[in-house]
Amino acid sequence: MDYTELAKIAVEAKTKAIPSYSKFRVGSALLTEDGKVFTGGNIESSSYSLTICAERVTLFKALSEGERKFKAIAIASDDQDFCPPCGACRQVLNDFCKDLDVVLINHKDEIKIFKLHELFPLPFGDANLK
Ligand code: THU
Repeated sequence: MDYTELAKIAVEAKTKAIPSYSKFRVGSALLTEDGKVFTGGNIESSSYSLTICAERVTLFKALSEGERKFKAIAIASDDQDFCPPCGACRQVLNDFCKDLDVVLINHKDEIKIFKLHELFPLPFGDANLK
């Protein structure tokens, strides 16, 4: 699957987000190394800090189905501009998939592609716990 298609799936995933309080929809689509795609949207709680971003919803869905190898995550949002993953999501994505491609899509259907390590230099990780 090419990244333009993955980005379009992330746009579609926004429709299933539950942004009850912020009203800001985020959708993401995660491509596994063997070509499966998992999707998710942000889910907000009335206890605001318990909200989970789209990227972590999507990653946890895939991990809980046994997936462990990932190639790319696409992210779309209600922002007209590109929506990069928040710091918490960068940490968790890096914990599970260090070489991930991060595909951002804006409202003009333009895409930008980054390596996760470009967005998250000098990470804390399992090597620090040894
Ligand atoms: N949000 C995401 O889902 N992903 C991001 O990378 C940035 C922020 C969500 C969290 C919250 O539900 C809403 O966007 C506003 O912060």
